[in-house]
Amino acid sequence: DGQSCLAGKKVLITAGPTVEPLDPVRFFSNHSSGKMGFALAEAAALAGADVTLISGPVSLPTPPRVRRIDVVRAEEMLQAVLDVLPEMDVIIKAAAVADYRPKQVFDQKLKKSQDELTVVLEKTADIAQEVGKRKAPHQLFVGFAAETEEVETYARAKLERKGMDLIVANNVSVPGAGFGTDTNIVTVYDRNGRVKTFPKMLKKMLAKELISLIGDRLHGK
Ligand code: PMT
Repeated sequence: DGQSCLAGKKVLITAGPTVEPLDPVRFFSNHSSGKMGFALAEAAALAGADVTLISGPVSLPTPPRVRRIDVVRAEEMLQAVLDVLPEMDVIIKAAAVADYRPKQVFDQKLKKSQDELTVVLEKTADIAQEVGKRKAPHQLFVGFAAETEEVETYARAKLERKGMDLIVANNVSVPGAGFGTDTNIVTVYDRNGRVKTFPKMLKKMLAKELISLIGDRLHGK
């Protein structure tokens, strides 16, 4: 049931943005507030799980009975995830990990001089893909997809490519869905197609629904 569907299960949740420095005072990042991931951590703990929350820089309180690990860069999030991965039963990747970071990180603050400044970016590690590669058969891997077009096509391609069992797709160009808001609008897919579409609802409510769906999957329902 909703109260104890994850009793005794170890659940890893990533949340928030990653922040990729350019120099001591500047960085590249995104608008993730951490609300979706923190709501999932709270709901999973309420469902009886032993929850580890790996978060980028956000200004949210840690939910009760949740172990929180703070990270900044994508590389740090990858390391933190790989450190705890083997012991997990469920992995939920709600974080918005930077896809690129500045190739050169300057030790001193860049001075203003030329009219144009070119910053070269290089790819970060794809944490989800690394999890997908290492995933044990008993582990349930749930990813997110933030898309602005062709949501189903892109989300299902990500699920396949990254070895996920479920993917939660949000169209982040729709008002009330995605980054920063208290609400979200999502559709969940598995390898066979659409599992469930949720109407616009509070991330806290949606988190409970997603945790109960995950509990059902874990118990072979
Ligand atoms: O934090 P909020 O303000 O509440 O906003 C919630 C959210 C919009 C951030 C969340 O609902 C969400 O969609 N999170 C995933 C955002 C994202 O990065 O999506 P993506 O389509 O770029 O990536 C797909 C998946 O791969 C994600 O599970 C992501 O964690 C993972 N990924 C992506 C890039 C990368 N280098 N490593 C990854 O692990």
